[in-house]
Amino acid sequence: MLIGTYAITPPFFAAPMAGVTDKAFRLVLRDHGCPLVYTEMISDKALTYGNRNTLALLDVIGEVEPVAVQLFGSEPETMAKAARLAVAAGASIIDLNMGCPVPKVVKNNEGASLLKDLPRAVAIADRVVAAVPVPVTVKMRAGWAAGRIIAPELAGRLVAVGVQAITVHGRTRDQFYAGQADWRVIRETVAQAAPVPVIGNGDVWEPADAVRMLAETGCAGVMIGRGCLGNPWIFSRLKARVTSGCLPPPPTPAERIRQALAHLERAVTLKGEERGVKEMRGHLAWYLKGMPGAARLRVRINQTRTFRAVVDILENYLPN
Ligand SMILES: Cc1cc2nc3c(=O)[nH]c(=O)nc-3n(C[C@H](O)[C@H](O)[C@H](O)COP(=O)(O)O)c2cc1C
Repeated sequence: MLIGTYAITPPFFAAPMAGVTDKAFRLVLRDHGCPLVYTEMISDKALTYGNRNTLALLDVIGEVEPVAVQLFGSEPETMAKAARLAVAAGASIIDLNMGCPVPKVVKNNEGASLLKDLPRAVAIADRVVAAVPVPVTVKMRAGWAAGRIIAPELAGRLVAVGVQAITVHGRTRDQFYAGQADWRVIRETVAQAAPVPVIGNGDVWEPADAVRMLAETGCAGVMIGRGCLGNPWIFSRLKARVTSGCLPPPPTPAERIRQALAHLERAVTLKGEERGVKEMRGHLAWYLKGMPGAARLRVRINQTRTFRAVVDILENYLPN
C-alpha cells in the first residue's frame, strides 16, 4: 500500500489511540515491524495556542518514518495552521480525525460530528491539503448513526480535494465501541475512493482477521486498535506470515513479561519515573491479561510508584 511515496509493507499497522500510542508504545510497535504509526489525537486549537502538554504529544523526533500525526478540530484555518506546525515538528503524514465519538469532542463540531456536516469536513481537508507538502489522510467512522451511513460518499468527496488515504472504522458514532464493526461499509468505500487506498478498521483481533478483512473488503490496508494492546506481536506475526507463509505462535508468558519490562523502561526514560510508571499501568495490565494471577499482579502494580518496585514484581513473576 502506498500513501504518497511511503510504501506501507506489509499493510497492517496500529491505530491512533489517545492515551495509548505515545512515543514509548510507537517505538515498541516499530520494533515489532509495524510499518506505520500514528500519534494520539491532537487538538488543533491546543497546538496553535502552544499548550505544553499538547506539544509533548507531537514529539516524533528520532522515530523511523513514516509517523502520522493525527489532528482533530472543526475550523479549516486552525486545522491548516496546526498541520503546518505538525509538519515542522516532523510529521510524515497528517491524519484528520472524523471519527472520535466522545461527547466533549462532538459538541465542538469536531471528530465524528463532521460526519453530520460534510461541507465542513471537505473544507477542512481542502485547506489542510493546500497547507502542507506531506500526504493528508482521513480516518472516519461509517456514519453518525444507523441509517445515516456516509463514509462512501464522504470518501469520494475527500479524494476529490486531494486526500491520499481514507480509513474507515465500520461502526457508527452512536455505537461507540459496542456491537460489531460492519465491514460492508469498508467495501463500499473502496469503490468510491478509488484509486486512493482505503484502510479498513474495526474488530481485527487475530492475524487471521486482518487477512480476512483484506479479502472480504478489498481494502488496501488494515488498521488494528484494541487487538494490539499488550500485543505488538500481532504485527511481527503478520509480517512473518506474509513473508514466509507461516504464522509464528503467540508469545510465551516470559516473552510478554520481558516486553512489558522493556516498554516500562522506555516510558520511564521518556517521561520520568513518576509519570512513566503511572502511565504504564494500562499497558502492563494488557501484557499480563490472561496470565495466571494477573488480577492480583495488577493490583500490586497499581499500588506501586517506583520503577524498581514494578521491575521486582514482574521479574519475580517470571517463570525460571
Ligand atoms: C483507548 C482508545 C483510544 C482511541 N483513541 C483514538 C484516537 O485518538 N484517534 C482515533 O482516530 N481513534 C481512536 N480510537 C479508535 C481506534 O483508532 C479504532 O478506530 C477503534 O478502536 C476500532 O478499531 P479496533 O476494533 O481494532 O479497536 C481509540 C480507541 C481506543 C480503544
